[in-house]
Amino acid sequence: MGQTSIQKASNIIKPRMKKTQPLEVCTSLTSYTFPRLLRLKSYWRLIRVPLTSRKRLEAVSHILNVFDLEKDYKTKRNRERLAKILDLVTGNSVLEVGCATGYILNYVASKKNIQESVGVDLNDGRLWVAKKKYPNSKFYKADLLSLPFSDKSFDTVLLPEILEHISQPKKALDEAIRIAKREVIITLPNASKENYDKSLVEISEHKWYPTEEKVKSLLGNKKHEVHFTSNQDFMIIKIFV
Ligand SMILES: C[S@@+](CC[C@H](N)C(=O)[O-])C[C@H]1O[C@@H](n2cnc3c(N)ncnc32)[C@H](O)[C@@H]1O
Repeated sequence: MGQTSIQKASNIIKPRMKKTQPLEVCTSLTSYTFPRLLRLKSYWRLIRVPLTSRKRLEAVSHILNVFDLEKDYKTKRNRERLAKILDLVTGNSVLEVGCATGYILNYVASKKNIQESVGVDLNDGRLWVAKKKYPNSKFYKADLLSLPFSDKSFDTVLLPEILEHISQPKKALDEAIRIAKREVIITLPNASKENYDKSLVEISEHKWYPTEEKVKSLLGNKKHEVHFTSNQDFMIIKIFV
């Protein structure tokens, strides 16, 4: 399937919530999120802010998104993905690109006792939440296509579910490899799976179809291991630098 199909699919699968509109903040106060918000003191403190401040409204909106994101990390697919990432990380310093609210970075850093953990993303709201939630890691706004780090800055560079968001994935991969001392670990949805889950693949933010063939062509002759089977919902690739 080509990009046209993705574009078609994106007309059908709408993102659940846009980021900044107050009205959307209200509509997202569903029976799921609201009682949870009330129970969590720290979030309740964040929500009690002047509603006139646009930045605060954005933050609240993102916090509501976070509940969905964190709920997603409990799915079987994500539990397996996280376990596999953990298994493959060997470094003592880790950069996650596309870290969103920092869940994966924190998971890896705490389970592996990593000394230096840094996350970057382009989304201000997610970074804001990540900084609040995980003060032991550092978070910056940066673009995968031009990372503000010198060569070989981190033992491990993680690219979980971000390459498919980039229209120049080869350039992005080279940039990640430049920063890494030991390894780059990538995860992607698996569009080669028979009857793959469309909600994981055909979403408006994705720029290309993550099939086995496409991934092979991206990797070229880089030294790598591919960990996935055709009946899994994700692929995981480790590149040795
Ligand atoms: C699907 S989320 C992945 C979150 C997390 N890494 C995971 O695996 O669950 C993709 C993230 O990549 C970020 N992103 C997209 N393009 C980016 C870019 N060019 N540079 C840095 N981050 C980017 C998005 O803002 C988003 O938070």
